[in-house]
Amino acid sequence: MQQVLKPSRRLEGTVRLPGDKSISHRYAMLASIAEGRSILSNYSSGADCHSTLACLRSLGVPVEVNGRDVTVEGRGLRGYRAPAGNLDAGNSGSTIRMLSGLLAGSPFTSTLAGDESLSRRPMQRIMTPLAQMGAKLSARDGKFPPLTIEGLSPLKAIDYTSPVASAQVKSCVLLAGLLAEGRTTVREPAATRDHTEVALRELGVEIERGKGWVSVTPPAKIEARDLAIPGDLSSAAFFMVAAAIRPGSHLILREVGLNPTRASLIEFLAGAGVEIKILEMKMRHGEPAGDLMVRGGALKGGVIEGALAAALIDEIPVLCVLGAVSETGLTVRDAAELRVKETDRIETVAANLRALGVQVETAPDGMQIPGKQTFKGGEVRSHGDHRIAMAFAVAALAARDEVVIHEAEAASVSFPEFWDTLASVAE
Ligand code: S3P
Repeated sequence: MQQVLKPSRRLEGTVRLPGDKSISHRYAMLASIAEGRSILSNYSSGADCHSTLACLRSLGVPVEVNGRDVTVEGRGLRGYRAPAGNLDAGNSGSTIRMLSGLLAGSPFTSTLAGDESLSRRPMQRIMTPLAQMGAKLSARDGKFPPLTIEGLSPLKAIDYTSPVASAQVKSCVLLAGLLAEGRTTVREPAATRDHTEVALRELGVEIERGKGWVSVTPPAKIEARDLAIPGDLSSAAFFMVAAAIRPGSHLILREVGLNPTRASLIEFLAGAGVEIKILEMKMRHGEPAGDLMVRGGALKGGVIEGALAAALIDEIPVLCVLGAVSETGLTVRDAAELRVKETDRIETVAANLRALGVQVETAPDGMQIPGKQTFKGGEVRSHGDHRIAMAFAVAALAARDEVVIHEAEAASVSFPEFWDTLASVAE
């Protein structure tokens, strides 16, 4: 499917985002190992989160979807049934990596597979700690999906130092830690999103945390609980940048998740000169959420490096779009992880920027985009990557002429309503 986008003068209106993708995956997995029924409200409509639900069903967990509400009948900590065939994680790195933690502690053999993009993504990062915990894992060429896991029950507790800053790795080990004997610790080189830790604590699991580390003590059981999911800040990012780069824009984004490990985006945009106000904040299950007001105006650029690169990893494609039209441009360093996302996002962002006449220099761990540039019209491709499709839809709004986005259906991986929502606010 292709989308043809015309330049937009400004954006005006109110936007409701899908439920947070990261939180949706975690709540579904935790509900599946709880005792009793959980209703998860505002569950993400993204295909990735529905891949998690499909895998849970294949593991014998009753799951019912009713619009944005999902009912999960928890099977208890060790209640998964051996699946009849491969578990299909689709395009979802979160599904394959986090669910692997729970499968490692389940006493049967299972195989997780995915689409072409997922089949190229590295799995050693979770295979190493899970093998240390006693599970047996094998993968194509030792590192790519399909991933076969022979579980062990109970697992051995470990103290694991992850070489990569990855919330998926941290969460995988913490989830496996629920099914281990003794306390499991994970250490990370830079702070990553902490939704797993927050959710576990809310569900009564003993979690201890310090700077750069978190420990989990396996509970006797987890009680089911109804959980509400805030809007997805990483999906909001496309609208925030769109409003930011079209002067005179004014958007209200409703009930957006504002967890501090995700909210560097707001600081970064405010630092670039975007006017952002948090209108009302509330706390639900340890996760803050609020309404955001964003206004377009003059923009500086910035530098994303070090810990900020890990904190903004999903937002970098759309921030590159902002960088090109900013006063001073954008420099991204320490972000080699971009190369192993749904696509090599350094290359796919650079290819699309160039296709729209924008200069960019790439490096192994980032890129440099000079400021004060203009997008001309043209054709870009998502390369099957949801965030690339949406980032270049934002670029199209600020372009001189029409932009055709090929493989635009990729947006559905996290935000199926994206195109309609954009059309409803772009003037
Ligand atoms: C996620 C963690 C990040 C992020 C992904 C979602 C999560 O991946 O890019 O979109 O929900 O834990 P990594 O853990 O690979 O950095």
